Amino acid sequence: MFIESFQIESPKVKYLDNEIHSSYTYETTELVHEKRNGVYQWVVKPKSVEYEFKTDTKVPKLGVMLVGWGGNNGCTLTGAVIANREGISWATKDKVQQANYYGSVTQASSIRVGSFNGEEIYAPFKCLLPMVNPEEIVFGGWDISDMNLADSMARARVFDIDLQKQLRPYMESMVPLPGIYDPDFIAANQESRANNNIKGTKKEQVEQIIKDIREFKEANKVDKVMVLWTANTERYSNVVVGLNDTIENLFASLEKNEPEISPSSLYALACILENVPFINGSPQNTFVPGLIDLAIKNNSLIGGDDFKSGQTKMKSVLVDFLVGAGIKPTSIVSYNHLGNNDGMNLSAPQTFRSKEISKSNVVDDMVSSNGILYEPGEHPDHVIVIKYVPYVGDSKRAMDEYTSEIFMGGKSTIVMHNTCEDSLLAAPIILDLVLLAELTTRIQLKAEGEGKFHSFHPVATILSYLTKAPLVPPGTPVVNALSKQRSMLENIMRACVGLAPENNMIMEYK
Ligand SMILES: NC(=O)c1ccc[n+]([C@@H]2O[C@H](COP(=O)([O-])OP(=O)(O)OC[C@H]3O[C@@H](n4cnc5c(N)ncnc54)[C@H](O)[C@@H]3O)[C@@H](O)[C@H]2O)c1
Repeated sequence: MFIESFQIESPKVKYLDNEIHSSYTYETTELVHEKRNGVYQWVVKPKSVEYEFKTDTKVPKLGVMLVGWGGNNGCTLTGAVIANREGISWATKDKVQQANYYGSVTQASSIRVGSFNGEEIYAPFKCLLPMVNPEEIVFGGWDISDMNLADSMARARVFDIDLQKQLRPYMESMVPLPGIYDPDFIAANQESRANNNIKGTKKEQVEQIIKDIREFKEANKVDKVMVLWTANTERYSNVVVGLNDTIENLFASLEKNEPEISPSSLYALACILENVPFINGSPQNTFVPGLIDLAIKNNSLIGGDDFKSGQTKMKSVLVDFLVGAGIKPTSIVSYNHLGNNDGMNLSAPQTFRSKEISKSNVVDDMVSSNGILYEPGEHPDHVIVIKYVPYVGDSKRAMDEYTSEIFMGGKSTIVMHNTCEDSLLAAPIILDLVLLAELTTRIQLKAEGEGKFHSFHPVATILSYLTKAPLVPPGTPVVNALSKQRSMLENIMRACVGLAPENNMIMEYK
């Protein structure tokens, strides 16, 4: 059964005027490797840590500035939110379609809340904690192309034509601000659309981005701004001692107008200086070490990298299932072809390399979790191919072959073929990233023994579910398995309202 909302009654949670206050017992384990009777042994000791969470329930008026606003993802997300807000429906060859948020974990998924008269009860994910309503977001942003969003939507060829016609009046007046263009970082084939650029040195470009954010905030009377990179994939920046490895070196390099500081790092730098959350939806290493250190020092949220939308999402489910079932994947081969501008940009070897890196580590945690199947250091063969085929446009084809060793020397080969509009997968993920990042900035916590409440670590691990190569604080393990990532997200939100983690034991029926 599905219920729309619920109230929690518990000594562990207090609903105050502008705050939810909860206490939470984190049950975990502590491992020690010690000598017992002359032999080293692993000893596991259960451990409980008391936490308190405080969630500010005042939902701000939110402005979202997209870098690459006029791209396929940018205009698709903007149009989709308008269509939902305006209750637009449109004729397709199959039926009259209503706007929806399918693919968004915050807007279209549910959580189990318990059991009632022998029935499992579910409720919307978004009713756990107060979140920004997507329809109240003010969108804006930058693009190196000055095309308005209505024309961008037509160029993208993602939405049905009847929907485009209805959206056009809302989107014609939306024109991206000039962006930071550096032809050294994206494919040469992007040059023809770069007619809307911020001039000046790198330092002046950072100052311009800061000015843009302030003016956007003021003009739209928003309480908070979040910035998200959905612009083209850049090549990797070289991480060099003396250049971008520390905060000081990064600022010195900015003064010297060093060519190796990428546009995405400049936007991120501006945001960190303004204490505006910045999320990177593409694979490149925007967050060079000096920038990560600055974000930590300024306690300014950063998250990324690379939206986990299709093939990689499947991989982080399928390999988790196989390895979890005691089956040994030995070869994983992924082909893509796509014909949108992202695909054209990725046809250059340097930008493709960024994507290849971001896609390649996704099975590591699952493989290293099972020493029965894999020797230390052993990995499945893992190959990723992306080809640009203009005719298919935004409708990406993904073909995957998983070969595994099964019982008694047998082999199993699973082949998958997925066809769908790339931007319709990415747009709801962008929405989730900004809504969840905004929510986490309103949560404070403290563990027993900690004197003061503090925010989550500024490197936002909680967004891992939505990214291919989760950015985590130094020294934190990366979790790629999708079910674990979703559990983390859901269980942290449950903790904020004093609910135990979902343990799936269903003891009620035992
Ligand atoms: N669609 C997906 O499923 C998906 C999944 C994961 C990652 N991504 C990444 O998201 C990004 C966007 O994808 P898309 O399909 O919207 O691509 P797109 O090419 O349609 O849009 C990118 C936009 O960014 C603009 N741009 C490029 N450099 C810029 C800069 N420095 N400043 C401002 N604007 C700039 C371009 O003019 C373009 O309008 C790509 O890097 C892609 O790899 C997409």
